Amino acid sequence: MKELKEFFEDSGRIVDETLDKLIPSDNFEPKRLYEAVRWSVFAGGKRFRPALVLAVGKTFGADEAKLLRTASAIEMIHTYSLIHDDLPAMDNDDLRRGRATCHVKFDEATAILAGDVLQSMAFRTIAEDENLGAEIKVKLTAELADSAAKMVDGQQLDLDGEGKRISIENLEKIHRNKTGAIICISARSGAIIADASENELDAITKYASSLGLLFQITDDLLDITQTTEVLGKTAGKDLTSKKSTYPSFYGIEGTRKLAEKVRLEAINSLNKIEKDTRILKDLVDFILERKK
Ligand code: IPE
Ligand code: IPE
Ligand code: MG
Ligand code: MG
Ligand code: MG
Repeated sequence: MKELKEFFEDSGRIVDETLDKLIPSDNFEPKRLYEAVRWSVFAGGKRFRPALVLAVGKTFGADEAKLLRTASAIEMIHTYSLIHDDLPAMDNDDLRRGRATCHVKFDEATAILAGDVLQSMAFRTIAEDENLGAEIKVKLTAELADSAAKMVDGQQLDLDGEGKRISIENLEKIHRNKTGAIICISARSGAIIADASENELDAITKYASSLGLLFQITDDLLDITQTTEVLGKTAGKDLTSKKSTYPSFYGIEGTRKLAEKVRLEAINSLNKIEKDTRILKDLVDFILERKK
């Protein structure tokens, strides 16, 4: 998967450069707020969602310049979701991306506000994109707002499910919302910006919907199979928080089998696209095989 590795390195670098230009410096007032934002954004996440925007957009022929702001905006929403997810009122975590969580390094109020401002910044980033037309920006903004709301729905359902025996259907709903929705819009926005056909958009949506589910299934697996050091976040948290997860339903082996099934679903959706989709296929395998 050398090609994918290079793709990730390149997309990660250019997205970080774009984020660095878009996010006020930590000298900007109120300093504490922008220090906190930068603390969380530039802590070294995988940048998977922006990579997906770029990969899908490029697959359908979009110029990189048209994709960068949307890719960065989605990473802003994602980082906001992580900052809030870690708060004491939610998952109560003290480690994220290999360093102290935002509320531990700063304080709870600052962490809440850092998440809030990242969400506003994300929508402004798209609205002020000079490389995209007004119609496309309205579509992207509406879809991203809808996906961010689904993420919030999923987070509520996730918290409601702590310590309860929920059905497998409800667990799938939680995962598709809290994690799948932002991954889905990442892929869709690449296709929308590239002006893909309805059929292509449909295939990409199915692909990303499976990929999004796969992402949270592997997140659940890593939580119990990987170390804190490698993850950069506290391992074993789902068990101590009594979260409903796939391994809590199916065990580790059963969950691995399910992950393989969802991987195949994602890859089969790509067969309907008459473009070179190798990089999109490699992204699925990357998620299945990831170590963090
Ligand atoms: C973690 O996302 C939160 C989930 C949605 C499961 P990532 O695993 O993409 O976290 P970073 O961005 O690499 O830190
Ligand atoms: C979080 O899921 C999903 C969002 C942040 C929206 P988790 O709570 O499982 O994510 P981690 O494991 O803390 O990264
Ligand atoms: Mg959570
Ligand atoms: Mg969490
Ligand atoms: Mg998790």
